[in-house]
Amino acid sequence: MKIVKTIAELRSTLAGPRANGARIGFVPTMGYLHRGHISLVEISKQHSDYQVMSIFVNRIQFNDPKDFETYPVDLKRDFDMAEAAGVDAVFLPDDAEMYRAQRTFVDIELLTNHLCGAHRPGHFRGVYTVVCKLFNIVQPDVSVFGQKDIQQAITIERMVADLNIPVRIIIAPIVREPDGLAMSSRNKHLGAEVRERAVVISRSLRRAEELIAQGVRSAGDITASMREIIESGGPSAIDYISMVRYDDLQPVDRLEDPSVIAVASFFGSTRLIDNMIINKTNGGYACIW
Ligand code: PAF
Repeated sequence: MKIVKTIAELRSTLAGPRANGARIGFVPTMGYLHRGHISLVEISKQHSDYQVMSIFVNRIQFNDPKDFETYPVDLKRDFDMAEAAGVDAVFLPDDAEMYRAQRTFVDIELLTNHLCGAHRPGHFRGVYTVVCKLFNIVQPDVSVFGQKDIQQAITIERMVADLNIPVRIIIAPIVREPDGLAMSSRNKHLGAEVRERAVVISRSLRRAEELIAQGVRSAGDITASMREIIESGGPSAIDYISMVRYDDLQPVDRLEDPSVIAVASFFGSTRLIDNMIINKTNGGYACIW
């Protein structure tokens, strides 16, 4: 596995495989890898021949400087995991390589006025800017994003369509701990007691699935029931529990096809997010979470 730190070196690394007809798969990350990231590489391998992973803690997407300073880093472990997963090249730029004197930023209208966009000012502008730059640097055929960051994944699909970026975006299923907690690099910050309580988030999604199966369609009824479950775990704050349309991420009063139910809640000082996608099927609704 090659580890490259500059854009020029990455471009020359990719020239050979590309000239030989290899399809390039790309998984952007901020490092501190877990099984969720590895599942993205595995999916990318099913659709492409040469795997690139970026590891870059993107300062401009952190609306809270403390969150940036405490973001976990363990490069040695990341390299071992990436290599074992079959990554061919890791792109490891530093801040100066990515942002010399950046004056151009990418933003998406409407789709970020709700959910995490409403609670993390500037976050998505930082995400779209870095992802757009990474797409231009790597020029992948395929790029895989996790469903866990559902607003990010849906809006990146939109960015790629709006800006005519020739890459296929794949949204990969959430990978969970055995008790249901969605895997996240930030889970490392949860102490044992808080970690145990945080399981109420995935329980609340299970409850939503049960209610939908019983025929409940009101967003208010479903999210009120989820709130009760999350509150039973003693969160420090709940940012949102919301049902939105999949296509434009705007809140709905009643379940539509397709919809997303998304949650963001603090346990201790750690902000956790989770969600489910709901699609109409022949016999009812399928909940993917
Ligand atoms: O999901 C993440 O880890 C980041 O937002 C991403 C896509 C790597 C951009 O920095």
